[in-house]
Amino acid sequence: MRVNVTVNGEHRQADNVWEGESLLYLLRERLGLPGSKNACEQGECGSCTVYLDDVPACACLVAAGQAEGREVRTVEGLAEGDRLDPIQESFVECGAVQCGFCTPGLLIQAHDLIERTGTPSDAEIREALAGNLCRCTGYEKILDAVRLAASKR
Ligand code: FES
Ligand code: FES
Repeated sequence: MRVNVTVNGEHRQADNVWEGESLLYLLRERLGLPGSKNACEQGECGSCTVYLDDVPACACLVAAGQAEGREVRTVEGLAEGDRLDPIQESFVECGAVQCGFCTPGLLIQAHDLIERTGTPSDAEIREALAGNLCRCTGYEKILDAVRLAASKR
């Protein structure tokens, strides 16, 4: 099957996509966008989170064919040229990145939270990021980074 999708503002096309193939596989293996990570492949960890038509979704749970004609924004699409998005800068400034495997999904989810709420409360941050697992940081630095990014708006 052929899939047409807009990714980070660019029209992309992939041929010979298998019916059972995930959007995550399409992005990483066919379109050369390895930012979204594959950890659990069953919707448990959030490391594969991307925007699908402006709503965060686990790309491992979306069939590639379901993305036909839709817009996807991955972590590669957060920065503008060489300028990092404030949420990316804040993760670096707060030391919220260790192995980095969870980071792309957390960035998308936190970016969406700040877009929607402006200055989220701690409870809102915890709720929004509850589906994104991190085995390294203990989460405190991630919370600091989201607070800092919100304060930069
Ligand atoms: S790889 Fe998609 S939720 Fe874990
Ligand atoms: S930084 Fe390693 S899993 Fe989060």
